[in-house]
Amino acid sequence: MKFFVNILMILVIMTSNLFAQQKKGELTDFELKNGIGPVKSKLKLDKINTKLAESGKKSFNEKCLLCHKIEGKGMGPAMKNITKKRSPEFIMNIIMNPEENERRHPEIIKLKSQYRFNMPDMGIKYDEARAILEYLRLIDKK
Ligand code: HEC
Repeated sequence: MKFFVNILMILVIMTSNLFAQQKKGELTDFELKNGIGPVKSKLKLDKINTKLAESGKKSFNEKCLLCHKIEGKGMGPAMKNITKKRSPEFIMNIIMNPEENERRHPEIIKLKSQYRFNMPDMGIKYDEARAILEYLRLIDKK
């Protein structure tokens, strides 16, 4: 009898922990590895599409270069080797949804404390974010 009571107790504790986690809005494993945002599953990436990368470079120079140099710290982290540090999905998610990552993703919370300004939401949509990712992949291939 005591055995069953113990099992029951353990079950109750486990489910209440689960609830507490959900309430706190804890991140899923996918979100921890790939950031929080519209990209919710792994991308299928081919070899680099240079035309797409060219259009990504244009967007990058217009919208990102102000804060992100390719090499060396600027108002944001350097972009060289970013595709080795972060997954492609992570890169797209932070481009499209920076504010939520700044609020909820433990690594981005840590990172933002090193910079004076946060990365702003620039209203970038999927296709443009994808092109920027292609440009960043191209830089890291060189
Ligand atoms: C106003 C400055 C600013 C602009 C503009 C900006 N960022 Fe950021 N970015 C930051 C800062 C600061 C961080 C560090 C984390 C944070 O505060 O969000 C960051 C973080 C990142 C990260 C994660 C870096 C890492 O080491 O994990 C990526 C990737 C990134 N930015 C890409 C971009 C791209 C691509 C653009 C253009 C579409 C862009 N950013 C525009 C300031 C900026």
